[in-house]
Amino acid sequence: MIRKCLFPAAGYGTRFLPATKATPKEMLPVLTKPLIQYGVEEALEAGIHTMAIVTGRGKRAIEDHFDISYELEHQIKGTSKEPLLHEIRALIDRCTFSYTRQREMKGLGHAILTGETLIGEEPFAVLLADDLCENSGGQGVLGQMVTLYNKHRCSIVAIEKVPRHETDKYGIVAGEEIGEGLYRVHDMVEKPSPEKTPSTLAIIGRYILTPDIFDILRETPPGRGGEIQITDALLRQARKGRVLAYRFQGQRFDCGSVEGFVMATNHFYKKFHS
Ligand code: UTP
Repeated sequence: MIRKCLFPAAGYGTRFLPATKATPKEMLPVLTKPLIQYGVEEALEAGIHTMAIVTGRGKRAIEDHFDISYELEHQIKGTSKEPLLHEIRALIDRCTFSYTRQREMKGLGHAILTGETLIGEEPFAVLLADDLCENSGGQGVLGQMVTLYNKHRCSIVAIEKVPRHETDKYGIVAGEEIGEGLYRVHDMVEKPSPEKTPSTLAIIGRYILTPDIFDILRETPPGRGGEIQITDALLRQARKGRVLAYRFQGQRFDCGSVEGFVMATNHFYKKFHS
């Protein structure tokens, strides 16, 4: 059973400077909700109630968001504004939040390893809040992956097909299709050039990982860009046939980029205001 979701949220978010100079990228709002709140809602919908967040310097707004704000709540009590806090209040009541800090930004793999103290010896989900996913009317992406995990009991990465000229922005997988949209992974490369990529199936920000990944990450040397890459660690599991890649149902917005962020904003605005 997947009980915990890890949110690596320590990155600098340089593509969004200057907005992210003093504000965590995960707190940028799509309409009125910060990105990380969409992520927590998706995890909750997948049946996960324990949120484990890896933060860094300058990220305290995330902790404050998932806490009570007595002064504010007292101020708006009984006014027409009060309902605006109902949703987040209900969310906080249904989850527990724990935090740890990544002191040096040594990459996603390192951020996940930093989260070991919050996860322990059990399989867990990883959600990158800047990939905003939606499956209108259907099960959320993490929920779909938890269902798959319960059947296959191995690590799972969510993937989508990307244009060939964009492979150098993603971890790319190659494998054998064993079911509709489900692949047994045999190769993984971090940000390959379009000429050298083994496929155009790109990993997006949703993972289910088995806890042996922590030992593997500890032994994984820094890879591309001097960072510890989760892709390198997953490849070790993949070589034992222990990684599946899943083409999820739904839509993903890359809210770490300005273009994806604007697309998400337009999408949700149309959805709620038409
Ligand atoms: P990104 O590659 O999007 O990096 O990280 P970033 O720093 O957030 O953004 P840019 O590229 O500078 O604009 C993917 C995810 O991994 C987390 C980020 O917070 C994001 O959710 N991350 C990355 C960490 O938690 N720690 C790291 O050292 C690196």
